[in-house]
Amino acid sequence: MDWQKEDLKYIWHPCSQMKDYETLPPIVIERGEGINLYDINGKCYKDVISSWWCNLLGHSNPIINNAVKKQIDSLEHVIFANFTHKPAVTLCQELMKVLPEGLCKFNFADNGSAAVEMSLKMSFQYHQQTGHPEKKRFMALSDAYHGETIGALSVGGVDLYSELYKPILLDVIRIDGPDCYRCPYGKHCTGHWEQDDELNCSSPQDKSCRCECFKNAEEAFQKYGAETAAIIVEPLLQGSAGMKIYPPLYLKKLRELCDKYNVHLIADEIATGYGRTGKMFAFDHAGVSPDIMCLSKGLTGGYMPMSIAITTQEIYDAFYDDYLKGKAFMHSHTYAGNPLACSAAIAVLKILKDENIIEKANRRAVYFNKIIKEKFLPLENTGEVRSIGLINAIELVKDRSTKEPLDYTKRTGYQIYKKALEKGVLLRPLGDVIYFNPPLIIKEDDMDFVTDVALECTKEILHL
Ligand SMILES: Cc1ncc(COP(=O)(O)O)c(C=O)c1O
Repeated sequence: MDWQKEDLKYIWHPCSQMKDYETLPPIVIERGEGINLYDINGKCYKDVISSWWCNLLGHSNPIINNAVKKQIDSLEHVIFANFTHKPAVTLCQELMKVLPEGLCKFNFADNGSAAVEMSLKMSFQYHQQTGHPEKKRFMALSDAYHGETIGALSVGGVDLYSELYKPILLDVIRIDGPDCYRCPYGKHCTGHWEQDDELNCSSPQDKSCRCECFKNAEEAFQKYGAETAAIIVEPLLQGSAGMKIYPPLYLKKLRELCDKYNVHLIADEIATGYGRTGKMFAFDHAGVSPDIMCLSKGLTGGYMPMSIAITTQEIYDAFYDDYLKGKAFMHSHTYAGNPLACSAAIAVLKILKDENIIEKANRRAVYFNKIIKEKFLPLENTGEVRSIGLINAIELVKDRSTKEPLDYTKRTGYQIYKKALEKGVLLRPLGDVIYFNPPLIIKEDDMDFVTDVALECTKEILHL
């Protein structure tokens, strides 16, 4: 059977111009192991993007496999309204041990965008039910990405995804967020924080930076704080914007501002959670808690679609009353709290703890960042190498001194992607930003190999 041909007969792939598949048909993957994916001809691809940032502990991890297999023999799914099961309760108990303080009520869904939708609705309804019907709007940062459903797309700020849909999106208040590579204040933070006792959180390595850009948030809150229900942020790392990194101090300041204006702070930790930034959650760097946190992706190690919007007792209490008062949160997803997903998620937390995964990943991250800088900084088209945890991004530019981007019509990142696939590495550049966001278990020899391939391909495509 010609699987590629059959695929193209039926399948409309996500986030793809299907015409591109004429020259690069879909690669038919048969199995995975660790960071390796194998196609039906046995060719190996090193998955250094964690299959859309969700694979946390390697493909086909034996411990997660066993947890799901064991669960499937007793219960595959049950309606989650008025029913529960041990895996869901156990998962919440385990998450309580690692979550930022104050987060204690768990509302389940089945993908990241759904958790974002749920958080927005929850915040809006909270204010409606606590005497602030005027709080109907949401704030979000420029270049944000929160998913593709209408609400999530509305708070997103990446034109590639949302521009066309603007006529049908919510009227969101957009704040010009941090832009540390092209900082208008001339500061320079590339993603290494130091503990700063004075600030009581991590602060940027550019000591002169005090998040001057935060004044944009202050101005927006002054103007619109009274009518705003919540602000949503991707903490520290704006992934889809090109792995843009900003300092924890920004979150700390935002927490204070939100408290002042009675605005909820929603942490979209869908991409940053679970050790991706070097700590369990990106908010941990700032030493403050959000009012609502969205989790997905790494939550099940990339095994099962699941997400959770986790919130505080205070928000939960605003919905708690006699049924006829109509205060319940009437939101549901069929697969909410799916037991198979919960069993995978429990196994993930156990592995993280038993094997001390995040600490070990942080040690290897130093090496990864070092070799990436050594290899890419000498290239004249490398604008910047930025990193956080094991995530490293190389922004390719036309002119390093002016930071002028490459001509986007050349699709340089896409050409590098195609070349790297030929050589057995799965990169998926965001525009002309090449990045690595590997499973946390990646080892040094794989780091050497994937960075060599990425470098070779970059040089070939840019004729360097
Ligand atoms: C920060 C962030 N929020 C939300 C989402 C949406 O999650 P999903 O694709 O599961 O809907 C993503 C997905 O990439 C994301 O990175």
